Amino acid sequence: MFDRDTEGVRIELRSLTKHYPGQPAPAVDNVTLDIPAGELVVFVGPSGCGKTTTMKMINRLVEPTSGEIRIGGRDVLGLDPDELRRHVGYAIQQVGLFPHQTVAQNIGLVPKLLGWPAAKIAERVEELLALVSLEPSLFRDRYPRQLSGGQQQRVGVARALAADPPVMLMDEPFGATDPITREHLQNEFARLQKQLRKTIIFVTHDFEEAIKLGDRIAILRERSHIAQYDTPSAILAAPADDYVASFIGQDATLKRLALLQVADLPVAYPAPDPRLPQVAADASLREALDLMLAHGTDRCSSPSGVLTYAALCAAVGSPAETVSAGER
Ligand SMILES: Nc1ncnc2c1ncn2[C@@H]1O[C@H](COP(=O)(O)OP(=O)(O)O)[C@@H](O)[C@H]1O
Ligand SMILES: [Mg+2]
Repeated sequence: MFDRDTEGVRIELRSLTKHYPGQPAPAVDNVTLDIPAGELVVFVGPSGCGKTTTMKMINRLVEPTSGEIRIGGRDVLGLDPDELRRHVGYAIQQVGLFPHQTVAQNIGLVPKLLGWPAAKIAERVEELLALVSLEPSLFRDRYPRQLSGGQQQRVGVARALAADPPVMLMDEPFGATDPITREHLQNEFARLQKQLRKTIIFVTHDFEEAIKLGDRIAILRERSHIAQYDTPSAILAAPADDYVASFIGQDATLKRLALLQVADLPVAYPAPDPRLPQVAADASLREALDLMLAHGTDRCSSPSGVLTYAALCAAVGSPAETVSAGER
């Protein structure tokens, strides 16, 4: 349905507005936003600010009052809504698995609608279960009630991915899980998206989740007004106003350190030092800092060489004294 040319599939929202009948004000008011092809954009904002309404207009579960939506250059409002939804993956917090269908049947739903042969569907189900770390032989024939909340959410994500849609809409998909499961799902999903490079809109009210997963973040106020739209590191480095700053909280520097990798940091000495605490090349600078603090030292060693506390501070443009003292 959407041509995946060299540009991929880009989503454009133009003056998008939803005024629910009988409501005093629009739920979404005049939103204009471009989501670049192959990027994961997070909408973050407080409950009731219009995130879900914005999302549901994109797959036309809610009809816009006015404005335009384009996906891959095509005018979404001119398409058949059912046809559209078969090409846009949708994962929601409540998961929405069919209780009387097995995991395999739930995941195979859209491919079946699209008329894939049974053998191809079965193959795809196996592949997706493995992708979301659910052992196919253990899980394919279970019913949703025989799964934990976190496992159900993984099945929900697998189902959204089933027909390999170029676009995914994910509305607080990990919201119903406990913190440990959620972190695990976030890590898996981040790894998955590195391979898939789909165009994804991901809604959350959790700013930590937004900086962890987003290529870009749109911080929304009431009526989906955009307070700031930028990369996580740009938002952390320069919040547009007090509203944005209130999402970031007191520890912007630590959050920026969590986004940077040890491999990105210039080394003070270009060989590993076995006497120092050791940190992996793909660890974050936050982990490197924690290691230094735990060992009471201002340096540690990675496979490519020795890292110093001073270099770490320089990487986030912070004077060397304030990182550990002021913000920890
Ligand atoms: N079907 C509806 N009819 C009327 N008002 C609605 C409907 N759905 C949502 N709203 C209202 O629109 C606003 C935005 O809701 P929603 O998009 O669900 O926000 P969020 O997902 O950010 O929590 C809220 O004030 C909500 O009460
Ligand atoms: Mg919502």
